[in-house]
Amino acid sequence: METIIEPFRIKSVEPIRMTTRGERARLIREARYNLFGLHSDDVLIDLLTDSGTGAMSAPQWAAIMRGDESYAGSPSYYRFESAVKNLMPFKHVIPTHQGRAAEAILFSIFGGAGTRIPSNTHFDTTRGNIEASGAAGDDLVIAEGHDPANMHPFKGNMDLDRLDAYLTEHGDAVPLVMTTITNNAGGGQPVSLANIRATAEIAHKHGKPFIIDGCRFAENAWFIKSREPGQQDRSITEIVRDCFSVADGMTMSAKKDAFGNIGGWLALNDDDLATEARAHLIRTEGFPTYGGMAGRDLDALAQGLSEIVDEDYLRYRIATNQYIVDRLDAMGIPVVKPAGGHAVFVDARGWLSHIPPLEYPGQALSVALYEIAGVRSVEIGTVMFGRHPDGTETPAAMDLVRLAFPRRTYTQSHADYIVEAFGELADMKDSLRGLRIIEEPRLMRHFTCGFERL
Ligand code: F0G
Repeated sequence: METIIEPFRIKSVEPIRMTTRGERARLIREARYNLFGLHSDDVLIDLLTDSGTGAMSAPQWAAIMRGDESYAGSPSYYRFESAVKNLMPFKHVIPTHQGRAAEAILFSIFGGAGTRIPSNTHFDTTRGNIEASGAAGDDLVIAEGHDPANMHPFKGNMDLDRLDAYLTEHGDAVPLVMTTITNNAGGGQPVSLANIRATAEIAHKHGKPFIIDGCRFAENAWFIKSREPGQQDRSITEIVRDCFSVADGMTMSAKKDAFGNIGGWLALNDDDLATEARAHLIRTEGFPTYGGMAGRDLDALAQGLSEIVDEDYLRYRIATNQYIVDRLDAMGIPVVKPAGGHAVFVDARGWLSHIPPLEYPGQALSVALYEIAGVRSVEIGTVMFGRHPDGTETPAAMDLVRLAFPRRTYTQSHADYIVEAFGELADMKDSLRGLRIIEEPRLMRHFTCGFERL
């Protein structure tokens, strides 16, 4: 059979509240044109994020009931720890309430004024934690990663020559090297196993630890299996183990590829660093056998980690994005190609070329998509990355709109509805106007800033 079906049936449903276009125009105006300001029951299809929004399986709900809430030494922790170590062979697994808490601990140890942290592309919270410590973050993704139409199979790869030169130039200021899999801020594009290995090698040659931000490790492994020469006959689990075995640690948001509604971890091999990290954890999150989570969450993640490496699931997961990307592409809408792992990324700067980057074409597009169809997306562009710690503002590398798919949550008809909405947008795109920011906080402005229409 050619049709790739959702490899599950639905046991429990959440009704969607239908809204009218007029209602949505009022709601988004009241939210000062920031989609984070909407109430989620005013959204028909919520593609704001794939983080924590997925559907848990029946076995995960059963695991929740098994959760043990002991303060210290809970069996839930040991089930969680062994599920993590089964895939990522690190010595120390430190549970946090989500990925950014792991980042905060990591950069309280490694960051600080005068230091610089390279990555393929830092995600916004990672960059936020780096900058809050006084350090600077540098993105060294390959040039193809900035070209939405380029069909390179691993557009999330680190530019290895640049990394080597960077470490030669700034070596003393660099405490560690990071890589994000998949490269969320750069279109959900994967990183090849060869590139992960080579990045680790360069980091180690310069005496630096190599840390992987592993949020979407299973999707990344699926791309390695389907695209990287020599990987086709290997299991996802084997590929995942290979990716992490060359790293010295990882940060993780379990709200992505662990099927959790909450959770995360920091993993490390070094005993002294782990001791320091646990001291920070106890002060800010919780005791090391639960960290930032309830025992029941630890059990949900332990089960989720066994489900996320399922190839039928991953095949369907990637096919959803591919389906939408193929249709938008056929309509002449510039999308990041090849399709990413967790989301469809529309090149708003390319499509709405009459709106200059500092008038936020990505934001203009996401607002219009909400008004027309009630679909909530997120700008990943100049609103998110344009403001710098010194107060200056410059256009981001790209102005993308991300449609991120919660795991196991929406179906084929939702995908068709989204495609239809883009058809409507195509008819009126030249009439869309940009926006002006009327209020913004000092860091990570996109979550809370307010806009007005130009
Ligand atoms: N790293 C990456 C690559 C991420 O995508 C995220 C979260 C984090 C770290 C932080 O994890 O949310 O658990 O604290 N990304 C979400 C998103 C929010 O919508 O892409 P967290």
